[in-house]
Amino acid sequence: MAIGVYDSGIGGLTVYKAAAAYFKNQDLIYLGDVARVPYGNRSRETIIRYSIECGTFLKEKYNISALIVACNTISSHALPALSDALHIPILGVIKPGARYAVDLTKNKKIGVLGTHATVNSKAYIYAIKELLPDAQVYQQACPLFVPLVEEEILSGKVAETVVEETLKNIAQTGIDTVILGCTHYPVLKDLIAKYLPNVSIVDSTHYIIEDIKKLHLAENEKGLRELLVTDDTPAFLSLKSMLVGNVPVQVVDINK
Ligand code: DGL
Repeated sequence: MAIGVYDSGIGGLTVYKAAAAYFKNQDLIYLGDVARVPYGNRSRETIIRYSIECGTFLKEKYNISALIVACNTISSHALPALSDALHIPILGVIKPGARYAVDLTKNKKIGVLGTHATVNSKAYIYAIKELLPDAQVYQQACPLFVPLVEEEILSGKVAETVVEETLKNIAQTGIDTVILGCTHYPVLKDLIAKYLPNVSIVDSTHYIIEDIKKLHLAENEKGLRELLVTDDTPAFLSLKSMLVGNVPVQVVDINK
């Protein structure tokens, strides 16, 4: 049985890529809800509704045995609802990111970059404080980062200005560690590092793989790779090629 990897769009491919490299024999099916991205500026109710539609589609059509929610926005709001609806293991990206940040920080001042929905949920604050109660957590919503990535504006004047302006307050807080709390942001890692010098950057992919390993899923499969999207956009195709190369993409209607 395959593992599903689900994101609102392209960002989850950063997790898919790491999972595909590690779980060579495991069948992996990625679903990007490209037709409705971004989720990060939508209400909790809408994020939950979209997630259950996508998760149900993957379970009913592809019989997935577990779902990796490769999106911080969905992980912040919809994990319990997905678990109730699908009755399979559901793994999110918040706890692995929090764990990694807590392992890295020395001064206990941790920054979190995310979408509005992730920041408003305070999911990272709860997850970090559960592990390190006296941590100081500084959050920054970065609503323009996802469009930059989706439009592949990854360098140059516009990208530099957006990243610099967005990070100027959190750069003053004294954080020594920052969580890239959105699966799109690793694509902007170099630029983020430039405006947060001397800050350790948490890209939680490695810790997510650790969590998948703990599920002890059967590995006697063929290592099938399928990329599904709910719309066929040039941005997705181009970034897909950059991140995972030549894997074919299939457009699906999740309501059929
Ligand atoms: N990939 C999503 C996340 O990790 C952000 C994209 C969106 O806003 O849908 O938060």
